[in-house]
Amino acid sequence: MDIQSIGIVGCGLMGSGIAQCAAEAGCQVFVKEADEALLAKGLARVHGAWDRAVAKGKIQEDQRNEWRRNLHGTLAFATLADCDLVVEAIPERLDLKLQTFAELDRVLGASALLCTNTSSLSVAQLSPALAPHRLSRLAGLHFFNPVPAMPLVEIIRTLATGEDTLATLRGFVQKLGKTAVMAPDAPGFVVNRLLVPYLLDAMRCAEQRLATVEDLDTAMKLGCGHPMGPLHLSDFIGLDTMQSVAEVLFDAFGEPRFKAPALLRQLVAAGRLGRKTGSGFYRWEGEKRMEALPL
Ligand SMILES: NC(=O)c1ccc[n+]([C@@H]2O[C@H](COP(=O)([O-])OP(=O)(O)OC[C@H]3O[C@@H](n4cnc5c(N)ncnc54)[C@H](O)[C@@H]3O)[C@@H](O)[C@H]2O)c1
Repeated sequence: MDIQSIGIVGCGLMGSGIAQCAAEAGCQVFVKEADEALLAKGLARVHGAWDRAVAKGKIQEDQRNEWRRNLHGTLAFATLADCDLVVEAIPERLDLKLQTFAELDRVLGASALLCTNTSSLSVAQLSPALAPHRLSRLAGLHFFNPVPAMPLVEIIRTLATGEDTLATLRGFVQKLGKTAVMAPDAPGFVVNRLLVPYLLDAMRCAEQRLATVEDLDTAMKLGCGHPMGPLHLSDFIGLDTMQSVAEVLFDAFGEPRFKAPALLRQLVAAGRLGRKTGSGFYRWEGEKRMEALPL
């Protein structure tokens, strides 16, 4: 099945990025938010990206207008009723996601596919919210931040996910111009299972004064060809997010490499959450990384 209409629940950081990419790929996109103000904010984020692209001469106004016509906002689950695919991108709380999936189960047509963008919950844990016939159409579709710039999507299958569902999702990811990898329904999937211990290890190195924060980042950037160093990346992700992801992975695997270092906990407790609060391992001025801060 070729996905032509997509519903997105939650138009925050991830939902707005997914909406942008799907509208650019020619899909009819319906984003559902919790209230008018949040919906306006989410849509403005997408419109702003397109307006900047026009201002920089990357796209024509006609193109922007066509994309805008593909993007629709709503506050009602019922508006998503005829979508071929719905992607849930609301906050990382199982209770909220179960409620949302139960609502979607009520309104969606029998052939609709249902995906979650969760980064740490098990996809199969959402099954109790769905009718049994829907389980073969449930999967994870894990996008990366910032969605318009990141070319990877992890497709997560549960034991019940159908082969036709996986084939449709592969086609959809390709339609977005992105690359899919299959990942297990296990904490961290593939990318975070490998990336998170590396980032936590870099924090342990900083904690043990192996090198300065700047030198640790420079070493991995120039020595390994990474686009940014691990402490810079942790600030970018958000240190509170890093701490909760580490807790989920440590709970699941019990291995010390997944344990949040004391330094991470101290920075979070001090309100130094990274770019979003203006300080973490570095001082930030908006999007701009400034000097490393004392530890
Ligand atoms: N931030 C990341 O780097 C990242 C990366 C990959 C996956 N994820 C996952 O994506 C999901 C969303 O994360 P985010 O960073 O975009 O969060 P966010 O807080 O930026 O956005 C969530 C949005 O969902 C909305 N929302 C809440 N309840 C709703 C409801 N019932 N109906 C409609 N909208 C509702 C909120 O108003 C908010 O705008 C989470 O599961 C997260 O784990 C995040």
